[in-house]
Amino acid sequence: MDYHNIIFGIEDGIATITFNRPKALNAMNAETMTELLCAATACKNDAAVKVLILTGSGDKAFVAGADISQMQNMTAVDALSFMELGHETLRLIETMPKPVIAAINGFALGGGTEISLACDVRFASENAAFGQPEILIGLIPGWGGTQRLPRIIGMGRAKELILSGGQINASRAYEIGLVNRVLPADQLLAESKKFAKKLAALPGFALKMAKHSINFGYDLSLDNATRLEAECCAQCFSTDDQKEGMKAFLEKRKPVYIGR
Ligand code: CAA
Repeated sequence: MDYHNIIFGIEDGIATITFNRPKALNAMNAETMTELLCAATACKNDAAVKVLILTGSGDKAFVAGADISQMQNMTAVDALSFMELGHETLRLIETMPKPVIAAINGFALGGGTEISLACDVRFASENAAFGQPEILIGLIPGWGGTQRLPRIIGMGRAKELILSGGQINASRAYEIGLVNRVLPADQLLAESKKFAKKLAALPGFALKMAKHSINFGYDLSLDNATRLEAECCAQCFSTDDQKEGMKAFLEKRKPVYIGR
C-alpha cells in the first residue's frame, strides 16, 4: 500500500508508524485509519518486527482526534462504519503479539487518547495533553474511550474526563496512571526507541504469551484467568529461549536469545 497520511519505517526490528497530517494536527480520517490498519497488519505478520512505536509528526500533536471535517456530514450509517474501522484497527494493535509503545508528542484528544489506550505502554512528552472532548461537539468517544479508559484509570476518573470533555496535561496523566513516563519533548522518541530495543532483545514468545495472558485473562473469572496464565506460562517451556534463559542464569552469564 502507498501511504499518504502516515510514515511507516522499520529499523533494527523496531517499526515506527508516524501520523503525518500536520495541517490537521494529525486528525484521523478514514484514509489515515485504513493506512494504520494496513501498516499494523504488516507489523503483526512480519517476524522481523519485534516492537511497534506509534507517534505523531511535528511537535504539536500526536493525534487531535477523529477528523471533524470528515465526520460533519456523516449519516449514522457512515459513522457506524467509521467507528467500526477504528475498533478493528485498535483491537488489532491491542492484541498484536508484540509490544506496542505510544510516544505521545503533543495533543492526544478524542481518538488520539483512544489510539494511545490500545497501546501497551504510553510515554508522553512534557507538552502532551489528553482528553475525551467528544461531548463538547455532541458525541461520545467512539474508538474505545468509554471502555478502555475506565479499565486503565478507573471508572470515576474516566467519567470525569468523558462527561466534562476536559483536558489534562502530561503530569496529571502520569499521576492518574494514564501514562507510564513523562519525558522532555526532545528525548521522547529516543527514549521510546531505547525502551523498544530493550524489549526487542527479550524472548519474543514469552512477550507474546505475557500480552496474551493479560489481554485475554482480564475479563475472565479469576479461576479461568489463572488457568489461562498457567497454560501460557507452560507453553514458554517449549521454546529454546526459555532453556537458554534458565541455563544462562544458572551459569551466571548473559543469555543469548534466538527468538524461538
Ligand atoms: N479534526 C479535523 N481538523 C482538526 C482537528 C480534528 N479533530 N483538530 C484540529 N484540526 C485542525 C483545525 O481545524 C485547524 O485547521 P485549519 O488550520 O484549517 O483551521 C488545524 O487543525 C489547527 O488546529 P487549531 O487552529 O484548532 O489549533 P489550536 O492550537 O488552536 O488548538 C486543539 C488545538 C486544542 C487540539 C484544537 O484543534 C481542537 O480542539 N481540536 C479538536 C479536538 C477534538 O475535539 N477531538 C475529538 C474529535 S471527535 C473523536 O475523536 C471521536 C472519536 O472518539 C472517534
